[in-house]
Amino acid sequence: MRTERYLTGITTSGTPHLGNYVGSIRPAVQASLRADVESYYFLADYHALIKIDEPERIQRSTLEIAASWLAAGLDPERVVFYRQSDVPEIPELTWFLTCVTGKGVLNRAHAYKASVDKNTAAGQDPDADVSAGLFMYPVLMGADILMFNAQHVPVGRDQVQHIEMARDMANSFNHRYGEHFVLPQAAIEESVALLPGLDGRKMSKSYDNHIPMFASSAQLQKLIASMKTDSRAPGEPKDTEGSALFQIYQAFASAEETAAFAREFAQGISWAAAKEKLHARIDREIAPMRARYEALMANPQQVEALLLQGAVKARALATPFMARLRQAVGLRPLSATMLTESGKAAKAAVASFKQYRENDGKFYFKLVDAKGQLLLQSTGFDNPKSAAQLMAQLKAEGSAALGAHAAHLQAGSASAADIDAALDSLRAASA
Ligand code: TRP
Repeated sequence: MRTERYLTGITTSGTPHLGNYVGSIRPAVQASLRADVESYYFLADYHALIKIDEPERIQRSTLEIAASWLAAGLDPERVVFYRQSDVPEIPELTWFLTCVTGKGVLNRAHAYKASVDKNTAAGQDPDADVSAGLFMYPVLMGADILMFNAQHVPVGRDQVQHIEMARDMANSFNHRYGEHFVLPQAAIEESVALLPGLDGRKMSKSYDNHIPMFASSAQLQKLIASMKTDSRAPGEPKDTEGSALFQIYQAFASAEETAAFAREFAQGISWAAAKEKLHARIDREIAPMRARYEALMANPQQVEALLLQGAVKARALATPFMARLRQAVGLRPLSATMLTESGKAAKAAVASFKQYRENDGKFYFKLVDAKGQLLLQSTGFDNPKSAAQLMAQLKAEGSAALGAHAAHLQAGSASAADIDAALDSLRAASA
């Protein structure tokens, strides 16, 4: 059974390099083969617009990234592989989330703050050259994730704050409109090594030290030959520690191959020979993919067709879900006006949580049954989020959640069965 949903996006702003392959493409393709996992991978082309205003580059990058993932073994039959801009529900959800996100929260987003700090340090207006798109980046990303109710979001450390923001958006929305969103979590692969680049720093386009994933074999050889090494002569033992060459080899090799390479370092392999070995090892893994990549690049219509099929699968979820969310927030056909009154009547027949704030400034809630009888009374919380979390947990888990939160709840004379009946009716009402 496929139970856990993983979702991640790739901004279409460049050409994949070996660091992207080792750090994200290869592990994602492997994860997508797990039988218990449902994977959603998409090309974040709306995000790319924030950074890039060259239309051809966006289009080219979209093709290159899609072809790279497919060439690396992503199976579009198993995975929902789509382009963000083919799912118009995503920008619509972005607006809904915009309306439940505090502006102050976005002020604290790392990427935005970095721009502001830089401007401030340069004595400029804090928002100089900051687009509203950059400011809203986390909300668009929240919509990407919440649209598909993904539990797990594989991302690099730099993106963790965005996932936390997406959780907050989910909480705020659920709090206002009922339980619609699952709270996502960042899935950080601790074991995935950051691949060093040609100069030993992290491989990155911005350092210009990268090796394109699909460089030709000859280009690959040339780039590797240009790597800086120390001046030890052939025959002199060499350090594996701190050697970018060795680390890149390790990212491609088995444990046995790596151990054998380390022995050769100790025995004084020449740098030229070590580079030749590194080239051969990378090429062995990449060459078959390179052939597939070139075939796809020569046939963009095929990639286009695959992405459009992916969008159909994505929208099979997104379209009905968005309809439900529109209904929830009150964007409804006017013929439904009449339903509001009976809807209220139906609500009155179920239990409810009442939330309120006391003079002490703290946030409280109580659970009352259909007749208004008090079933549970909370203690005061410093913030509404903690109260909301406990309510959500009660709703999800029923009286089973009481034990762990005894300090925050008084059950009065209600039995666990009364409480469960009330929570059941609440759940049924919001389903
Ligand atoms: N911001 C991510 C990055 O730069 C890309 C991205 C966009 C993403 N939307 C997403 C990642 C949703 C995970 C989930 O790496």
